[in-house]
Amino acid sequence: MHGEHTDERSADSACVIDVDDLPDGLVVTDRDGHVLSVNRAATRLTGIAGDQAVGRHVRDVFSFRDHDGRDWWKWLDTYGGLSTRTRQPELPLRTPGGQEMHVAARLVRRPERGGEIVRVVITMRDAGARARIERSRADLVSTVAHELRSPLTSVKGFTATLLAKWTRFTDDQKLVMLETVNADADRVTRLITELLDVSRIESGRLEIHRQVVDIPARVQKIIDGRVAAGEPEGRFLLRVLGELPETWLDQDKIDQVLANLMENAVRHGRGTVTIVVEPNQWGVTVSVRDQGEGIPPELATRVFRQFWRGNARRRGGTGLGLFIVKGLIEAHGGSISVQRGPEGGAEFRFMVPTGTPDFA
Ligand SMILES: Nc1ncnc2c1ncn2[C@@H]1O[C@H](COP(=O)(O)OP(=O)(O)OP(=O)(O)O)[C@@H](O)[C@H]1O
Ligand SMILES: [Mg+2]
Repeated sequence: MHGEHTDERSADSACVIDVDDLPDGLVVTDRDGHVLSVNRAATRLTGIAGDQAVGRHVRDVFSFRDHDGRDWWKWLDTYGGLSTRTRQPELPLRTPGGQEMHVAARLVRRPERGGEIVRVVITMRDAGARARIERSRADLVSTVAHELRSPLTSVKGFTATLLAKWTRFTDDQKLVMLETVNADADRVTRLITELLDVSRIESGRLEIHRQVVDIPARVQKIIDGRVAAGEPEGRFLLRVLGELPETWLDQDKIDQVLANLMENAVRHGRGTVTIVVEPNQWGVTVSVRDQGEGIPPELATRVFRQFWRGNARRRGGTGLGLFIVKGLIEAHGGSISVQRGPEGGAEFRFMVPTGTPDFA
C-alpha cells in the first residue's frame, strides 16, 4: 500500500488520479443527497454539468428511477438500513429523459465500520447500448426460429406425405415434391451460412485474406454466370471510369458483396443494372444502380439492418444480405451507402481502400 507517501515517484503524474479521467460517471453527495461533485463522464451521460448540479439535491438533478418508477434515492435510504451497509449493488435505472443507466453507490462511513454515513459515491454507466443489443438479440432468436421453421415444415410435410402414400403419386408429382424439398433444404443451408457470417461480423472475427483483386473482372464473372443461368445479356452494364489502382482485397468476400448487390438490383429493382467502377482518392468506388422504385431516403439506413426487408417478404429473401454486405465492406476498412440513382432506382455505392498485402 502506498498510503499518503510523498516520495518522488508517487508525486509524479502516474499516481495522480483525476476523476474526470474515469470512463464511468461519478457523482458524490453528502449524506442528505446534496451534490458535492460531478465528473466529466457523468455530465456526458446525463447532459447535466457540475455547476448546474452542485449544492442541489441529487433527486432533483438526476432523479433516477427503477423500472417500476420508484425513486432510487428514497430506496437507497441513507438514514435507515443496517449501519454496516456500505454499498448498493449496480441496478438498471432510468433518468426522466428515458435514458437507461447502470447505477451503483458506495456509502462512505466514518468510522469505516458501523459509523455514520458522511458521503455517498454514485457511479453510473450507459446501459442503453447494452439493452439495445440484448433486445436485438432476442428479436434475432425469434426471427431465426421463424425463418428456419417454414422451410423445415415444408420438408417434413412433403417427406411424411411421400413416405405414407408413395404408391399413390405419379412420378411427376413425386418429382415436384422432391424438388420443393430440395429447394427448402437449400434455403435452410443458405440461412445458416448467412447466420454464421452475421455472427462473425458481430463478434469481429471476420478474417480478411488479401490478394490483388481485379474488381471489373469479378463483376464480369458474376454477369457471365447470371447470363449462363438464363438472364438476358442486356440486363447488366459494366462501366469502368478512369484508371484503377491495384487493390488488395479478399476476393471471396468482394465476390459475395458484388453478387448480393447485383442480386438485389435484379430481385428488388427493375430495368438495366449498371455497375460503375472508378478510382477515388484512396481506393476504388463501386456503384450498383438499377431503374426500379429505389429506396426512400428515410429508409436508407434501415436497409442495412438485420432482417429488414421492406415489403419484399414475398420475394423470398431473409433480409440479411445487406447487413452482411456492410459488414464485409467495413471489415475491409471501407464504407457503403445507398441513394437515388441517376435513373431513379436504387444506387448502392461502396468504397474500399486499396489495402496492402497481409504481411506488409
Ligand atoms: N435495389 C433495390 N431496390 C429496391 N429495394 C431494395 C434494393 N435492394 C434492397 N432493397 C430493399 O432492402 C431490403 C433488404 O435487402 P437485403 O439484401 O438485406 O435482404 P433481402 O434481399 O430481402 O434478403 P437476402 O439478401 O437476405 O436474401 C430488401 O428486402 C428490399 O426491400
Ligand atoms: Mg438481398
